[in-house]
Amino acid sequence: MIKFRNVTKFYHPDTYALKGVSLNIRPGEFLSIIGQSGSGKTTIVKLLTAEERLTKGSVVISGWDISNIHFREIPILRRQIGVIFQDYKLLPQKTVFENIAFALEACGASGKKIKKIIPQILKVVNLGHKAEKYPRQLSGGEQQRVGIARALIHRPKILVADEPTGNLDLTNTKEIVGLLERINELGTTVLLVTHNRDVVNMLKKRVVVLDHGQVVSDQKVGRYVL
Ligand SMILES: Nc1ncnc2c1ncn2[C@@H]1O[C@H](COP(=O)(O)OP(=O)(O)O)[C@@H](O)[C@H]1O
Ligand SMILES: [Mg+2]
Repeated sequence: MIKFRNVTKFYHPDTYALKGVSLNIRPGEFLSIIGQSGSGKTTIVKLLTAEERLTKGSVVISGWDISNIHFREIPILRRQIGVIFQDYKLLPQKTVFENIAFALEACGASGKKIKKIIPQILKVVNLGHKAEKYPRQLSGGEQQRVGIARALIHRPKILVADEPTGNLDLTNTKEIVGLLERINELGTTVLLVTHNRDVVNMLKKRVVVLDHGQVVSDQKVGRYVL
């Protein structure tokens, strides 16, 4: 369970990014968050990964209150949450295999473990045949699938996607959404931040609407209403 309790976030003393946000996300749920640019969506993601600190309230993940997390505990938190981004954030000089290996090495995985895990993960995202390619040799959809593979290396309980289809056409968007659905069906909680009307209406799942840092709507089977 992820619990945002009355969360307020100020970046500057006079402007808030989130104001009194309360939100419960159940284990295994697939939740989309929509809202206009500047409504606070990315701030929610950054509070979950402890990239930013909240000003007031609390964020609790599986009973762990991370509101005042010690910096030494941040790696433990980040192993539980996979994150994917709009711009993929792949290293251009590294191959697909090396991009994922790099993330595993950063966490102290052995060469043996890396060689074993990566083919398994690449299979999940259907990229086994592209392991030796560089990001520039891949389509946008394929690059995002590498991003998803990298986010899955620790088998996280939670996958957070911040506008993952923002740079993709409809065909690739459908493919990425389908992949997120499959990952969710395998038991991972998915939090999807999106602007894309088609995505939300395709999913037919819970949708929370943010407006100026506040939750203004929370629907079980949401439709795009902006
Ligand atoms: N690092 C930052 N410093 C100052 N203001 C920020 C920072 N990040 C975001 N903001 C402000 O907080 C508000 C919410 O931003 P954000 O969470 O990125 O919204 P969204 O992802 O919905 O576009 C915006 O007004 C934005 O300008
Ligand atoms: Mg954003």
